[in-house]
Formats: sequence, structure tokens, C-alpha cells
Amino acid sequence: MNILSIETSCDETAVSIIQATGEFPTAKYDILGNALFSQVDIHREYGGVFPMLAKREHAATLVAMLEKALDESGLTDSYAPKLFPEQEAHIRELLEREPNLADNLLTFYKEHDVPPIGLIAVTNGPGLEPALWVGINFAKALAYLWNVPVVPVNHMEGHILASIFDTEEDDQLTQIAFPAISLLISGGHTELILMKDWKQYEKIGQTRDDAVGEAFDKVARMLGLPYPGGPEVSVRAKRARQENLPSVGELLPKPMLTSGDLDFSFSGLKTAVRYRIQDKETLTEDEIAAVCRDFEDVVTEVLLKKTEAAVSEYNAQTLIVGGGVSANQFLKFTFDKHFYHTHPDMPVYFPGPGLSTDNSLMIALAGHAHAESALTPKAPHALRADGNRSLA
Ligand code: KG4
Ligand code: ZN
Repeated sequence: MNILSIETSCDETAVSIIQATGEFPTAKYDILGNALFSQVDIHREYGGVFPMLAKREHAATLVAMLEKALDESGLTDSYAPKLFPEQEAHIRELLEREPNLADNLLTFYKEHDVPPIGLIAVTNGPGLEPALWVGINFAKALAYLWNVPVVPVNHMEGHILASIFDTEEDDQLTQIAFPAISLLISGGHTELILMKDWKQYEKIGQTRDDAVGEAFDKVARMLGLPYPGGPEVSVRAKRARQENLPSVGELLPKPMLTSGDLDFSFSGLKTAVRYRIQDKETLTEDEIAAVCRDFEDVVTEVLLKKTEAAVSEYNAQTLIVGGGVSANQFLKFTFDKHFYHTHPDMPVYFPGPGLSTDNSLMIALAGHAHAESALTPKAPHALRADGNRSLA
């Protein structure tokens, strides 16, 4: 079965086509086409993601991403199917709020053969609702035109599956032992998830305020560094470690380290960083780097200690780390080293290249996992954006 997947929950517009041979989770997955446009350059000016702008950019880019993924897949050629007036009217109604998207899609449809797609997977949450709706309405329009069922996908489940997806090997999902603990760290989420089996999720810990990626972004902003902050903070922290630069001010607090539960809090840490630097008129490059290091050290330590507690409490056989912040190399190094010593038999998975930040490959995997709950192309009304959709 060929799966077309669509991701528009935040500031990445992504479309991919995956061929799944067999059933989830033992299927063989081949990436036939993969297209992604990152809007970061557009949002950088605002220092963060601006939802209405994200929505507009998704609408402007989706058809180009579809075209790119389909071209790569070789699944379609330029034979023009007939477009009936009632079809055009229906598409215009579905995409009423995105007339440019409707125009682009109708032009695309008239120029391309209907590809052999068996399932459309689209993120319906969590994320920014205006952004999610563009992807959902686009999925509905394609489902209607191509007569293909569509399955709503939880973005966070996508992040989990992306971490165990091995593109190097045979393009397939790694078979993991349960129970597994998953630490999900992104711009919008910080949570510990217990998986007793495939597709079974229980939230055992979460942030009480800011997400860890959000904390990286806010600290970066305070230091005058561009959005997204994670990679910016990370390179400077690395240099500060290498050069053993002195700290600025007192030690940073380690929030919730001894709270006795599996929850997190990062807003106090962000404030503590602000206090360290507020009296300084200007910060030197070395001082900025030292603050980045101290912040990254504390964040990593807190995430590690809570994850270790979850692993022990639930006797985890597998650890999965996913979400945009899992791209952080210091965090990965620290986790790998720690668990190699304390739990040598427990595999620790981090996403491969290009799979930690938002992408649509992960949406195809999660869509395949839930193929049985796909909505028929005639009745996708139930498909709605759910900005706060939870995993468990
Ligand atoms: O998963 P993601 O792409 O989008 C959401 O679903 O939120 O995560 C984006 C977040 C941003 O906050 C970004 O600063 C952070 O991931 N991030 C990093 C790194 N790369 C991206 N944080 C720390 N270190 C990194 N190398
Ligand atoms: Zn994400």
C-alpha cells in the first residue's frame, strides 16, 4: 500500500509517499518521495512561529510539496483526468478559506494522472489549529478527488515512531521490547510516555509550564540569538565546554529534580537565566556561550534524572527519545553514556538524520499504524483539527 502523508502542525510543510509492504509494525517501509519546506526563515523575523503566517505559508506551499514527492516517487505522469464542474465546486467549497490552495490543487489535478495511493495520513493534532486545518482540508480535498480514505494522525505518535525508524537498514521500524519509555521533547511538548505495547500510550509525566524546546527558544531570544534557539544554544554550549569558560553569575537551579514525580518545569529556569544576565549591559560572545552551556547542562541533567526514574520505576526494556530537541547532540551523548553504564541491555533510540524535527515520514508511519480507523473519502467530516490532542 502506498501512503501519502501530510504534516502542517507547526512551521514545516511536508508531504511524503511511503510504500508499506505488510502490516504494522513488521511492514517494510520504502520511502518513495519526501518533500519538506521549512518556514523558519519566515518566522525568524518574529522570533517564533506566528500561527496565521504559518497557515498562509502552508497553503502556498502544499501543492509544490505534493508535486515534488509525487515526482520523486514516479507514481504519476502527466495524463490529464477529467475534472467535472461539481468536483471543482466541491473542492472550492472545501478550501473556501484558502482560495490559492484550491487554485493550485485544481491546476495540479488537471495535469497529473491519479496516483496509486491507498491511504492519506494527515496530522490533526497536537499543534497550531489554523496550521493543522490547512493540512486537513488539503487531505480532504485529495481524498475526495482520488477517492482514497484518510486517517488522522497524532503528531506525537509520529515522533515516537520516527525515533525507531531505521532508514539505514531496511527502511523499517525496529522491533522493540516492552515496556518502553518514551521521552518526547519538542517545541510544544515535554512528556514521558509509558508504552506497554505498540499503540498503547500512558502519560506518566509532563511539563507543568514551558516545553523544553520552548525554553531553548526563549533563552536564545534573551541572549539575542535567532529562532529556532535550540541549535544556536547548542553550538555555543559546545564551545563553552571545550574552552572551559567561566559561568556568568551563580549556578542555575535544577527545577523539579527532587520533586518525587515524573513532571517537569522549565519556566523558572528561564527566569533564572534572565536574572543572571539582566544587570549586564552587554554580554560578550564568551559570556553568551557560558550561559548556553549552563542552561543546556541543567536541562540535560533534569531530563536524564526524570527519564532514569521512569526507566527504573517501570522496568523499561527500551528507551525512545523523540521530538525536535532530541536533535541535541550533547543530550544524546549524555543519555547514551549514562544508560550504557546503568542499563547496558536496554537499547536507547534517538531519531536518525532529518527525523527529529517535524517531518511527514513519521506521519506516514503513524497513519499506517492506524490504517483501520481511516475515514472513507465520502465522509471525512469527522476529521477535525485538535490543537491539544493528547497521546494518552
Ligand atoms: O518537534 P519540533 O520540530 O516541533 C514541534 O513539534 O514543536 O521541535 C522544535 C523544537 C524547537 O523548540 C527547537 O529549538 C528545538 O526543537 N530544537 C533543538 C535542537 N534542534 C531543534 N533544541 C535543542 N537542541 C537542538 N539541537
Ligand atoms: Zn514536532
